[in-house]
Amino acid sequence: MWRVEPLRLVLLFVHLIGFALLLGGAITQYLTGRLKINSAMLWGAAIQVLTGVGLSAPLRDGHEPSPAKLATKLVLGLMIFAMVFFSRKREAVNRGHFLAIIGLTLLNAGVAVFWR
Ligand code: HEM
Repeated sequence: MWRVEPLRLVLLFVHLIGFALLLGGAITQYLTGRLKINSAMLWGAAIQVLTGVGLSAPLRDGHEPSPAKLATKLVLGLMIFAMVFFSRKREAVNRGHFLAIIGLTLLNAGVAVFWR
């Protein structure tokens, strides 16, 4: 379905920018030694859920990713968003909480790439 292909590509492009904001924001913050949720992480997590839901629409002319893959990505994405959103005003979060955000982000990128 060629008419929706540009829409899918724009959503994928913004999805990758959200990934860069979330992972880049988290690693940069981690390297400062102060484990605070920064706004790049917050925007990145929100962009991932919004563009991810858009990318889950049937835009591929029948060659859709499996519903199990999409459900896994959605659950992981919502977990990351909750972990970022509800801690956004804290001066610092636990190291385990911060590393879990990074780990779940990497896991969700792995699900996107390796689950075919
Ligand atoms: C932190 C959260 C997320 C990360 C790091 C992430 C990462 C990625 C990456 C790197 C890709 C590109 C894969 C490729 O083109 O080969 C991708 C694609 C995709 N993502 Fe996400 N994503 C996240 C959240 C979500 C959420 C919440 C959804 C909603 C269900 C979602 C749905 C999708 C879909 C449908 C694709 C296209 C997959 C395909 O064509 O097989 N993502 N994601």
